[in-house]
Amino acid sequence: MHVQSSVVAMTQMLQASVYDSTRKQLLRGREDMLALVAAQLQSREQVSGGPIRKPIWYDIGGGTGYNIEVMDKLVGVEEAFAHVVLVDFSPSLCNIAQERVRKFGWTNVTVVCQDARLLRCEPQSVDLITMSYSLSMIPDFYSVVDLLTGLLAPSGIIGICDFYVQSIVDISSRNYIGGTFNRHVNWLGRMFWRTWFDADRVNLDAGRRDYIEYRFGTILSASERNYLLGGIPYYLYIGCRRDADSLSGSGREVVERLDAALTESPYLSAREYRNQQSTEVVPRSKSYECAIVNLSANLPLPSAFYQQHPWRIYYNDLLHKHQQFGNEYIYAFNWEDPKVDRQLLNITKDDVILTITSAGDNILDYLLEGPKRVHAVDLNPNQNHLLELKVAAFTALPYADIWQMFGEGRHNDFRSLLIHKLSPHMSSQAFQYWLNCTNAFTAAGGLYETGGSRHAIKLVRWLFKLFGSSTSVRTLCKVETMNEQREIWPHLRDTLLSWPLHKAIVSTEWWSWKAAGVPPAQRRLIVDDYAARIGKPTNEKIGGEAVWQYVVDTLDPVAEHTQLSRDNYFYYLCLQGKFSRKCHPRYLGVKAHAKLSKPKAFDGLRIHTDEIMEVIARITPSTLTIAVLMDSMDWFDPEATAAQEQIFALNKVLKAGGRVLFRSAALRPWYTDIFERNGFEAKCVGRRDPGKCIDR
Ligand SMILES: C[S@@+](CC[C@H](N)C(=O)[O-])C[C@H]1O[C@@H](n2cnc3c(N)ncnc32)[C@H](O)[C@@H]1O
Repeated sequence: MHVQSSVVAMTQMLQASVYDSTRKQLLRGREDMLALVAAQLQSREQVSGGPIRKPIWYDIGGGTGYNIEVMDKLVGVEEAFAHVVLVDFSPSLCNIAQERVRKFGWTNVTVVCQDARLLRCEPQSVDLITMSYSLSMIPDFYSVVDLLTGLLAPSGIIGICDFYVQSIVDISSRNYIGGTFNRHVNWLGRMFWRTWFDADRVNLDAGRRDYIEYRFGTILSASERNYLLGGIPYYLYIGCRRDADSLSGSGREVVERLDAALTESPYLSAREYRNQQSTEVVPRSKSYECAIVNLSANLPLPSAFYQQHPWRIYYNDLLHKHQQFGNEYIYAFNWEDPKVDRQLLNITKDDVILTITSAGDNILDYLLEGPKRVHAVDLNPNQNHLLELKVAAFTALPYADIWQMFGEGRHNDFRSLLIHKLSPHMSSQAFQYWLNCTNAFTAAGGLYETGGSRHAIKLVRWLFKLFGSSTSVRTLCKVETMNEQREIWPHLRDTLLSWPLHKAIVSTEWWSWKAAGVPPAQRRLIVDDYAARIGKPTNEKIGGEAVWQYVVDTLDPVAEHTQLSRDNYFYYLCLQGKFSRKCHPRYLGVKAHAKLSKPKAFDGLRIHTDEIMEVIARITPSTLTIAVLMDSMDWFDPEATAAQEQIFALNKVLKAGGRVLFRSAALRPWYTDIFERNGFEAKCVGRRDPGKCIDR
């Protein structure tokens, strides 16, 4: 008897390993989904500030128990869970699972051989529910999903990984699905994969994923392709109850609280709000308006409301104004020197700052001064994804990883860090984006050779290579004295400022915009100033010459007055493709890490994906103290009314004594007069005359 049962056991383990190895390639993403839920549970425990009760985990359609083995490797099943229940209606697979339980000696795992539709257990008692590739195999999925909704504990998590096919039509106008990146499957793919899997009784209809998203609140969602097997579409989903704990109190109250933080208005309870309404109009964020519609229509809230952190604010990623950027940010690093901003602005803990995100570097710099609030605004969602990544990294990673990611711009384990450590601190949209862009950190060029601005950096490096100046560049980045630097500079200058190359490349409008991020309106300002300087009328013929002179006037003083090897991290990065331990932005220092990795370091940060004007129109009047516009106003058309409207709105939203800091490519930009006509006193705090540099 004993011999017989060991033979049966061995056969089953063999079956299990054969089953698991054949499924490994097909059922992709299971390990990722399990790592994501484990990261969520761990991070929730940290946020709650102490041990919460050990979770109860139900793996529905758990098959051979492969998921439990994976989870065991991740967190230790016995240590991490009070009880694990595998539910599957196939007796043969349950036997294999049972054998696996015996083999690993897990005493807290129960295998229940049962149809999931008939599962009964105490309502709201399960902390973690997972389904890997089982939802697509259950014909009566509505009843199972409804049942699971009732089982999930108030702060519970559900993790799903499965095949799917959907088109853009399935998802358009659904604002609660946490982003649409890579979700559309083309017509051929939809037809092919549905028919293919039908034969195996696996159903890929769009309704399954839809219904999950309708019944739960989306925390993270990502659409992937299994390219090892012809690009089968599959998705990862992490959700919670629609009325999840993070939304303590009624949904409406939570939405009100969040809105207060977005609009700088005080939080008012429902009664206070009603009383106040007669006297004053309280500005409402778009996020609030959208949440109220969802609550009234019995839909889940947008995914931003189910995140652990309120940093990233909901936006509609399907709008053309966001989609126009494709999947690319323009700036992988900030060009504006925050040291100058700091000296001019003298940021204190009472400041409420509105600024453009760009690559987010300067936002981290401002946050080191501990202001009350920073509203980061960018129309390009990808710039905000970059800022979110930085913020998540400071929240979850030690200094060594931060340095590799943003100092060196390379991290071979980036994908693993993203899933295991960063994911609980990111919005669904940012997570989707970075899951798709892991090569930004693993490719040879690294982070700083990504984004639109990489063209400029690559061109500069290529030029130095072509002219055999690479050694001089390396020396320039090493020398410690200004005299040595001044000696080397002329050799490089000849290469960098060689006239034929500039005529061919730098002076074209296309290059200015695509590679250097200089839009046509801004380029015109440069040309106008140059025309005035040489006493000629403005015309496109002098455009190339003007831009060339602009570059000369910028580079010469920088080389003359700032030390590249120690201080000028902007140019150091352009030349080396990375920062050095001696030469880097302040936020990449050890001291900055100590400050920014503290638990509440980013509590004051709000990341808006919208135009500045749209954001300030929804902020309570007289609440901002500082607005840093960078050079964004150079982008406006002087003939249009947009600048006038924005300046008027800025005046309204700023406190008395509030300041606006802008940079411009022009010596005296045309909109300075509009500022003066609208209650501002304009002061030029730095003028970039030939031979002089106003910052690094
Ligand atoms: C493709 S397998 C995936 C197994 C496992 N989750 C994994 O990732 O290896 C799908 C599983 O769902 C189970 N299943 C399908 N319908 C079910 C139902 N109504 N109740 C319980 N289990 C079901 C099947 O028996 C099968 O084990």
